[in-house]
Amino acid sequence: MPQTRDTPAATGWMREARFGLFVHFGVYSMAARHEWVRSYEEIDDAAYQRYVDHFDPDLFDAADIARAARAAGMRYAVLTTKHHDGFCLWDSAVTDYSSARVCGRDLVAEFVTAVRAEGLKVGFYHSLLDWHHPDYVIDGVHPLRNAPDVAALNSGRDMGRYRAYLHAQVKELLTSYGQIDLMFYDFTFPWDRGGMPGKGPEDWDSAELLATTRALQPGIVVNNRLGIPGDYVTPEQYQPDRPLVDDGVEIMWEACQTLNGSWGYHRDNLEFKDPGDLARMLVQSVSNNGNMILNVGPDGRGNIEPRARGVLNSLADWMRLHARAIHGAGPAPFTPPAHGVYTLRGDRLYLHLFSWPFRHVHLPGLAGRVEYAQLLGDGSEVGLDVLDSTPQPHAHLSPLPQPEGTLTLTLPVTRPDVLVPVVELFLTEA
Ligand code: GLC
Repeated sequence: MPQTRDTPAATGWMREARFGLFVHFGVYSMAARHEWVRSYEEIDDAAYQRYVDHFDPDLFDAADIARAARAAGMRYAVLTTKHHDGFCLWDSAVTDYSSARVCGRDLVAEFVTAVRAEGLKVGFYHSLLDWHHPDYVIDGVHPLRNAPDVAALNSGRDMGRYRAYLHAQVKELLTSYGQIDLMFYDFTFPWDRGGMPGKGPEDWDSAELLATTRALQPGIVVNNRLGIPGDYVTPEQYQPDRPLVDDGVEIMWEACQTLNGSWGYHRDNLEFKDPGDLARMLVQSVSNNGNMILNVGPDGRGNIEPRARGVLNSLADWMRLHARAIHGAGPAPFTPPAHGVYTLRGDRLYLHLFSWPFRHVHLPGLAGRVEYAQLLGDGSEVGLDVLDSTPQPHAHLSPLPQPEGTLTLTLPVTRPDVLVPVVELFLTEA
């Protein structure tokens, strides 16, 4: 069975967008040691309550987040409505376990309004897992998995009632906030963990949930983590190195990436990725016909802390000059040189240079196919030559002969000071 319903109607805007922002925020942001802290440290409800009681996201500024996303060239933004800890960021009618009850704020409403105001598409991340709900059966990743009386605790739990809660909440989210463009369900694990059964599509009634999602939001794009085919697939902190194919057909994919390995704010985790590496990951995604969604985890007060802000600013600087090599671009039918990768948009071919060559870069198969070339960052002309293909005796002062059909670019010796230098090649008609 095909994994996706990837059709231009379903995923057209998403392919065009190519770059999105993920926002993981909740009471776990206050613990500041990963959004899985409740599971990792086996924290029970009573102990976790301290975060709920002290939750005060006074610096959560959705307008600021949305502006930062747009500036970074992101075209959609996805917020955690509820993570695995069960704490909800909107005013849900079926629970008091929400920001609305705790601090009087519907953060989902704030987010949706701000993201739309910046002209971006709006998405929700919604956790299928729920470590707070009293009917959610304890499994191998649940914080209570090692409680001495697990069997007794589980005997009164009823996934049917939890399902009704899950479905009711999804209906609220998809009926109260206008058009929602994307739904990122998370996640399905129908295998044993720690000797306890996981949870599969039947636990969520994924078929019904997906049908409801589509009925309430006909244009929505849905990921594949309900454990049944959706519209796109979601490699997790993994960069595919080729287009993804299912049943012989190319499918939409989105690499989900963190700044430092954690989705929720993690104060002491300093493993931040280099902005240049993130730009290269984005380029690599587009060159393989995929997207990248990059996460920020606002801190315990809801602020985008300086390290995260710094990365977003660097990406913004790069995207301001290079967005047209990303938005609406995709793979190119040419073999790139060892120095980089290509993206293609219409008649413009973009050579993203991952390493800086010394003065010349040779492009196989492009002789006669390029009418003009420039560095995209500053619009400065790049020289085009087709070199001799026969060896020249004593030609120690000239570039070496190149195979037939090779186009040679002449670049400045000094690498332009941008995250990834890009050469824009204007193609002639094929
Ligand atoms: C994983 C993690 C989760 C995170 C998600 C983002 O499923 O469980 O914490 O929100 O990936 O893609």
